[in-house]
Amino acid sequence: MLQGRTTLSKFLIEQLRGTEDQADLAALLVDVTAAVKAIASMTAKGALGGYLGSLGTENVQGETQKKLDVLSNDAMIQACEWGGLVAGMASEELDEPYTLPREFERGAYLLVFDPLDGSSNIDVNVSVGTIFSVLRHGRLGDPSTSDYLRPGVEQVAAGYAIYGPSTMMVLTVGRGTHGFTLDREIGNFILTHPDLKIPEDTSEFAINASNERFWEAPVQRYVAECKAGRTGDRGRDFNMRWIASMVADVHRILMRGGIFMYPKDTKEPAKPGRLRLMYEANPIAFVIEQAGGAASTGRARILELQPEALHQRVPVMLGSRHEIERLERYHREHDSGTDRPFASPLFKDRSLYSAEGSA
Ligand code: F6P
Repeated sequence: MLQGRTTLSKFLIEQLRGTEDQADLAALLVDVTAAVKAIASMTAKGALGGYLGSLGTENVQGETQKKLDVLSNDAMIQACEWGGLVAGMASEELDEPYTLPREFERGAYLLVFDPLDGSSNIDVNVSVGTIFSVLRHGRLGDPSTSDYLRPGVEQVAAGYAIYGPSTMMVLTVGRGTHGFTLDREIGNFILTHPDLKIPEDTSEFAINASNERFWEAPVQRYVAECKAGRTGDRGRDFNMRWIASMVADVHRILMRGGIFMYPKDTKEPAKPGRLRLMYEANPIAFVIEQAGGAASTGRARILELQPEALHQRVPVMLGSRHEIERLERYHREHDSGTDRPFASPLFKDRSLYSAEGSA
């Protein structure tokens, strides 16, 4: 059944051969796939497994925890803590990094993850995912929070699993982005989407449009132009999608192009964005860049941001390169005041789209 097929573990051993990470990183990623298979099994059982619904507790973000958030978090910890490969782990579901029990050997890596991304979709049977990022632990001893605060360019591996009609893992070790599909009968991930490439141009965007009035002017400008379609400056029609699972929206973009935005907004002024840098934005940005796409806050490359806190939030715009470059240009023009007056009649009245009174 495996003849002519490349399993994820074989693929990783070959990709990492001759590098300093050759044995341990492949082994750690295989441990991650063990957790992913357990989470896939639970999400697939849904109501039949008694897994749906909330626990009545809140995570450090103040979000209500679903049963599956916590079970997925436990699955990841149990799969990765014992093998002598990680020095510690940090998760969306844990306020502080997880310290390994004394009996387990410490390894060279830090694993940071969102065990179940898009969990508002669990109870309605819409795709959810797991996102992970691997960093090196550069010293001996148990890591403290500050050891995790490394910029995304230092990730040695990152990826996600998507629990959709099929379960897939998409990952990178810095040598392209590759997709694997779970063959449930044999329990292996098989390479099905080698060397994914995101088209540089696109006519599809993903954003939660209900937040439009809270966006900054450059994002309002971009989306207004997309919506104006062939009657506006862009001269062509655009399509919009929003699944409310970042992993699912990102996966579509990797398959056929597009951009995803969760920009800064003024809905909750204390938060500079919705998505978390360490276990959402950074790993996905690594995957996207390795597939030829771009990932930005609108003003900076995500992978170069210096994290200041484990659960830090950032604005996120990623996907087809030329569209992200256009968004960055709109931010530059806005910040320097050179974005006015606009050619399009849509923008004759700047106050129409000015979110922060910046006219
Ligand atoms: O918390 C992360 C997340 O669930 C992402 O997976 C998703 O893209 C986003 O939040 C959904 O946000 P909203 O509820 O505003 O649509």
